Amino acid sequence: MSCPENFTGIITGASSGIGECFARELAKNNYNLLLIARREEKLEQLAMELEDLYDIATEVFPADLGKTEDINRVVEKIKNTESIYFLVNNAGFATRGSFVDVDSDKHKEMISVHITASTLITHAVLLSMLERKEGVIINVASISGLIKNRGSPNYASTKAYMIKFSEMLALEMKRTNIKVQALCPGYTHTEFHSVRDFEGFNKNAIPSFLWMKSEDVVSKSIRSLRKNKVIVVTGRKNKFFVWIVNSKIFGKLIVRIMFGKR
Ligand SMILES: NC(=O)c1ccc[n+]([C@@H]2O[C@H](COP(=O)([O-])OP(=O)(O)OC[C@H]3O[C@@H](n4cnc5c(N)ncnc54)[C@H](OP(=O)(O)O)[C@@H]3O)[C@@H](O)[C@H]2O)c1
Repeated sequence: MSCPENFTGIITGASSGIGECFARELAKNNYNLLLIARREEKLEQLAMELEDLYDIATEVFPADLGKTEDINRVVEKIKNTESIYFLVNNAGFATRGSFVDVDSDKHKEMISVHITASTLITHAVLLSMLERKEGVIINVASISGLIKNRGSPNYASTKAYMIKFSEMLALEMKRTNIKVQALCPGYTHTEFHSVRDFEGFNKNAIPSFLWMKSEDVVSKSIRSLRKNKVIVVTGRKNKFFVWIVNSKIFGKLIVRIMFGKR
């Protein structure tokens, strides 16, 4: 995990939650940082704090990954950045309500942030990583991408893409020292459920034992890199939930309880 030379780590969605936590972890391990998200002030604050704490260089790159022109700007920036060792495709958001109730522009934005941006940023970063044949790519997906569950079909499907994409890319990278991981958290305390789309969402309705801290999600991800695990589900309860929902015997019953009998 510790940074071999003066390498750079790139994190999308670094302005809060899991992304901010990854930034802190990489800074602690001497990575220079390229921090990407829309809220420039939050990125600037974090960058200043981390430069004060550690002997690293940081760069803030405000971008809306829901917009093609901004993804292109990020890709260009990456092509002009040297010694990239670590990428975390973490930017993401969810929606509330049924698929048809959500505006089609929101669906388009989600596909752009989760799928298009992650894919094109990974492509750009690999050009640099493959020169040295070493590096780390973490795609922050979700347990939603592994199970049938109530909630946004678009969210679950875009996260399933990130998981499959990571799995296949890891196979392609097998002869290199480039590690690829699909990190699949469950409920995690961040700003994720506090954004405008989640107004009125009652976090307390979800049992407290199901929630994790973003620090624990990030440390599980980092520990799993050593084991070369590609799909990483955080927390025992989430692992059990994924197992039981996908099991032949209990799966059907659970889906029937959640969605009703057809
Ligand atoms: N929290 C959970 O319960 C949970 C569970 C499973 C998976 N996840 C996944 O974990 C990842 C991180 O989320 P989080 O929980 O840390 O939530 P968060 O605190 O809301 O962080 C989301 C990050 O994504 C950025 N982002 C969102 N839309 C963006 C856009 N259009 N362009 C650029 N950046 C954008 C946000 O920055 P700006 O607003 O500044 O742009 C923010 O930095 C997401 O991919 C999410 O799907 C979260």
